[in-house]
Amino acid sequence: MAAGLGTRMKSNRAKVLHELGGLPLIAHVVRAAQALNPHAILVVVGHQAEEVGRAAQAEVGDLARSVLQAQQRGTGDAVESARSELENSDSLVLILSGDVPMIKTETLRKLIEHNNSAAAACTILSVRLENPTGYGRIVRDGAGSFQKIVEHRDATEEERLIREINSGIYCFDAKELYRALRKVEPANDQGEYYLTDVAEIILAGGGTVSVYVHSESREVAGINTRAELAEFENLIRRSAIRKLMIEDGVTFIDPSHAYISAEAQIGRDTIIYPNVTVEGKTTIGEGCVILSGARITNSRLGNNVVVKDHSIVVDSQLESNCAVGPFAHLRMNAFLEEKATVGNFVEVKKSRLKRGTKAMHLTYLGDATIGERTNIGAGTVTCNYDGKNKHETIIEDDVKIGSDTMLVAPVRVGARSMTAAGSVVTEDVPPDSLVAGVPAKVKKNLK
Ligand code: UD1
Ligand code: CA
Repeated sequence: MAAGLGTRMKSNRAKVLHELGGLPLIAHVVRAAQALNPHAILVVVGHQAEEVGRAAQAEVGDLARSVLQAQQRGTGDAVESARSELENSDSLVLILSGDVPMIKTETLRKLIEHNNSAAAACTILSVRLENPTGYGRIVRDGAGSFQKIVEHRDATEEERLIREINSGIYCFDAKELYRALRKVEPANDQGEYYLTDVAEIILAGGGTVSVYVHSESREVAGINTRAELAEFENLIRRSAIRKLMIEDGVTFIDPSHAYISAEAQIGRDTIIYPNVTVEGKTTIGEGCVILSGARITNSRLGNNVVVKDHSIVVDSQLESNCAVGPFAHLRMNAFLEEKATVGNFVEVKKSRLKRGTKAMHLTYLGDATIGERTNIGAGTVTCNYDGKNKHETIIEDDVKIGSDTMLVAPVRVGARSMTAAGSVVTEDVPPDSLVAGVPAKVKKNLK
């Protein structure tokens, strides 16, 4: 169920599109469901239907299909939207909420096992809370058997004292669910169709309703406000960092000021300074040092790489023993081979620097392939854009590019050549030659 806007988020975006640990809430939920190998995942969408559907598919592909609930008339109505898909199926239907992202696959498995061993038509996942305010309560009879779920706002004073709450996660026999759903009436404080009424209806019809009491209440907590979102973000972050320290041998100078994606892998003896952000599916090798203010997103770093302060590395790869920064910007498939070094105020876009090549100061390298052991002088620019198209620059091995050289692409600089300071290179430079001037001309054969 992911059709609601989530009024309490005070947002123009549907609640389930808000991100936790770098992924939309809905992605967490469909991921947990996917691991159960279901026939299908039906996502009930309403607010920002297309985006929500896309966010689910981005995580699990075509396994997720959207079902539109045009008007949000309650959780019963949300499930009703999928009637044609499910009412004649012999399957079990697991109902999850798009705003309960911490749910674990293991717990869902236990819920299903509990349902099957009780031969129930419906099993409700419940937890006990210190403060159950706002949640639906599980009402039991004197013998402890399930009677009904009552929403907080519809509950009597006495019912409000009940600490056992409905998590909003259930397992149903599809046919029984849809038979009972026909009888649900919007006879409550909100005038909504409540899915929770189905349990009572099944019971009244002679069906078995069981309750699986789960011990981890945090796992089924729903996110309703941005404050709760931030709390969960913090929890996820802290547990990811703890795992990296305890299990993987990563040093954090200050674990409370590091922001590491739960999907990141970091090798032993790597040191992470304060205010480092590691996002997405990033892999960092062993013995690396990541200094303050660096951000590394969806990138791969080998061993003993140093990323100096305030550098940004996005969608890029750095082999072992490379160094970048401070204040470097690597993006769109920047690729640094072993021992390549990029210094301060250097931007590298869609370019490859081969083994041992250096660009130490104030340089832009875009759409360039640069050979081994080449030195790029301060202020060098690959002029890759003619106003319409991007062009490539190729610099071969052992070249020395003088300071402030403009390489007007497409252009190639041959092996072992040099450009003098201030050259504007508009034509290919043959190997073993020194070029200088504007436009640059061959001045000397270096052989
Ligand atoms: C629901 C349960 C409550 C339970 C709580 C647990 C009902 C009536 N109440 O209350 O017993 O304790 O969850 O978190 O079910 N949704 C739709 N379409 C709708 C309405 C809701 O898709 O028409 C979706 C929402 O986007 C959300 C989920 O269903 O993802 C739950 O809806 P919400 O309104 O948050 O229910 P609660 O009031 O939290
Ligand atoms: Ca909710």
